Amino acid sequence: MAISRPPHSLLFLCSILLSSYWLALSSGEEVVGYGYSIESVSVNLPGKWLSANLSLIKNSTVYGADIPRLNLFASFETEDSLRIRITDHENQRWEIPQDIIPRQKNSPEKKFQHKSIQENLLLSHHNSDLLFTLHDTTPFSFSVTRKSSGDILFDTSPDTTDAGTFLVFKDQYVQLSSTLPEHRSSLYGLGEHTKSSFKLTPNQTLTLWNADIASANPDINLYGSHPFYIDVRSLSDDGKVSAGTTHGVLLLNSNGMDIVYGGDRITYKVIGGVIDLYVFAGPSPDKVMEQYTELIGRPAPMPYWSFGFHQCRWGYKNVSDVEGVVAGYAKAGIPLEVMWTDIDYMDEFKDFTLDPVNFPLEKMKQFVDNLHQNGQKYVLILDPGIAVNTTYETYIRGMQADIFVKRDGNPYMGVVWPGSVYFPDFLNPAGRDFWSNEIKIFQALLPFDGIWIDMNEISNFITSPPTPLSTLDDPPYRINNAGSQRPINNKTIPATSLYFGNITESTFVGSGKYTAHWTGDNAATWDDLAYTIPSILNFGLFGIPMVGADICGFIGDTTEELCRRWVQLGAFYPFSRDHSAIGTARQELYLWDSVAATAKKVLGLRYQLLPYFYTSMYEAHIKGIPIARPLFFSFPQDLKTYDINSQFLIGKGVMVSPVLESGATSVNAYFPAGKWFDLFNYSNSVIVDTGKYIELSAPADHINVHVHEGNILALQGEAMTTKEARKTAFHLLVVFGSSGNSTGEVFLDDGESVEMGGEGKNWSFVKFYSEIVGDMALVRSNIINGEFALSQKWIVTKVTFIGLEKTKGFEGYELQTSKETKSGNSDIKTSFKRNGELHML
Ligand code: GLC
Repeated sequence: MAISRPPHSLLFLCSILLSSYWLALSSGEEVVGYGYSIESVSVNLPGKWLSANLSLIKNSTVYGADIPRLNLFASFETEDSLRIRITDHENQRWEIPQDIIPRQKNSPEKKFQHKSIQENLLLSHHNSDLLFTLHDTTPFSFSVTRKSSGDILFDTSPDTTDAGTFLVFKDQYVQLSSTLPEHRSSLYGLGEHTKSSFKLTPNQTLTLWNADIASANPDINLYGSHPFYIDVRSLSDDGKVSAGTTHGVLLLNSNGMDIVYGGDRITYKVIGGVIDLYVFAGPSPDKVMEQYTELIGRPAPMPYWSFGFHQCRWGYKNVSDVEGVVAGYAKAGIPLEVMWTDIDYMDEFKDFTLDPVNFPLEKMKQFVDNLHQNGQKYVLILDPGIAVNTTYETYIRGMQADIFVKRDGNPYMGVVWPGSVYFPDFLNPAGRDFWSNEIKIFQALLPFDGIWIDMNEISNFITSPPTPLSTLDDPPYRINNAGSQRPINNKTIPATSLYFGNITESTFVGSGKYTAHWTGDNAATWDDLAYTIPSILNFGLFGIPMVGADICGFIGDTTEELCRRWVQLGAFYPFSRDHSAIGTARQELYLWDSVAATAKKVLGLRYQLLPYFYTSMYEAHIKGIPIARPLFFSFPQDLKTYDINSQFLIGKGVMVSPVLESGATSVNAYFPAGKWFDLFNYSNSVIVDTGKYIELSAPADHINVHVHEGNILALQGEAMTTKEARKTAFHLLVVFGSSGNSTGEVFLDDGESVEMGGEGKNWSFVKFYSEIVGDMALVRSNIINGEFALSQKWIVTKVTFIGLEKTKGFEGYELQTSKETKSGNSDIKTSFKRNGELHML
């Protein structure tokens, strides 16, 4: 179940069903006469936008009538993002509302020039590397090119022997296709799916339709829809495109769709809406993320405590059971930051209620109070279905406010955990008020710290029959829902249900602005352990960097070995939570000695790295760059990083290389060029001149986590809670490389402010630099808003230098000091002399 979406995300969209397959025509013979031609063009000067009227060349016979006249509008949304919008000339069609994803209103200004079309028309912007070309061919096509290299990024010229490559625009079937340079293009994104390969492999259909399908099912549509990919290009033959040059493409359309990826072509087959296509110039992966999240919204800042370790389970019996778990962690000395309860705490699964026998209010209050006394937190689950029950106050208030989704004029009745339910309409402002009011009332009763939103795909345990008169419930093209062309109405709200303003809508792009995500119901298997890496990396690309998978596995019984390896990896997920299904074997980390020992070790390192995780959150919040990143984000020129599925980076310089196979005691890990140091033992290093796979020892209790040369990490001490960890002194780990120059940064605030790094001065940002000058190794810092850090009395008590070369006269790799230095003032200089003595300047 997609977690914790914003209230408005609950909504649904139209739909479609299949009959025949249009590609029937693709037998190699010339397909004459499909597509659209250009009638007239208007251009605004100087090159701000270009608009064209298009007319249908010839009707096709499947999936309903073609729309005869279309408008195309190309414009620069920003200098780094080009937008191409194709809409029905006559009728307004469903588009993502502006208040969900604000973007420029594309109404042509008055001053424009009509052009007779004798040639291709270009739209370019003097500050942009993107060039739009409208090709006046029959049928017409358009392309987007990178100006600096001439590389074609998107090109809709059809293959004239294949009807499946033409532009098609019908009421319930929209098709758009682009060629791709197969051997130079690596695609990532287009989810949500569970995949063994992070890089998209050619010859697959990716279906996007939100469904409550367990993530233990690879390759089929899951809980969310993100029609966004990045395309990392390799070196071009003429050498003009350098390896790692990256752009992004978003089709901003919330209808169900199949995306056919053939390697040399990508084709969208969408069941409604308009074409609203964005190309983001990059040219680096980081830049694409910055440009993408500028449009869809920057990721929400997550509180410091959310980076601690979380424990959950569906099936905790009562308050004592949950208290026992908290005590179990404490006794074993394993950090536990947040205790969660699943639907078990509710009275007959009704939201905003407590089971009076097993989770009675007074006991729950005491439990939450104890957690808070300990510096720990409490999170509970909420499902959007409101039980239909005339004695239930939430239901009564919902009916009074008239905020439930309707079908045929009455609230639509589905079935979820409590039995019959109505679903609040979050598109209705009154529906949002209702929901926040219920939360307020309940929180006043029980002071929980966070909410876990489940089942909001929306999940329904029944499938209501289609309305005979509407093709929304029974559309002509059937997307590959659930991998079996299951009708889109299956186990969700029917597409003919009406929302406020009589629209139906869906959720996807932009959720990261409000929420974190967990990857749903995986299984306790080794395969699922491995698949969590592509899933987590994908959500980073989707602008939801705070993401994790159920550690030790949700469905089925885990084993000691699997759970041990899983917590070793899960300790480095941005969101780190152990969760399991009712009826499965218990899997709290203290239950096996070997798992407990490894948990202490790996969570110990996680807690030392908390400032680094939190600083990565800050970077994600201000620039959209993921916390967990593919290796090519830091090593875009290294082609071997493009195919890696089993390793990832945290921030720019910490690489995690887990064991993902049963029985293994070593791991074959890829190391991009440079020096890498084991964060559990700095004297273990891997040094490679060019990228290489290296067989590393990985005994049962160990995961390989390395830091790359050129980084400075600001670490803090281990503790049982993040609150305690925040009180410890800082330790600077300076990792020298061949150049001697290293950099690092740390963002510091109270850990809870809603605005991370906002207008006020209640935060500090410190940048560290190191260099070798003569016989000195020098560390400098530059601080913005230093007063805040000073007021918190944060100090650096230890500086460790690693990577210094003996041949240059420095004494060994690992040199430490215990001298104190204040971090509150600006420009601290710390130098290390060849004789091993440390100086603070
Ligand atoms: C769904 C969720 C799972 C939760 C269960 C009961 O399956 O994905 O995490 O435990 O519902 O609420």
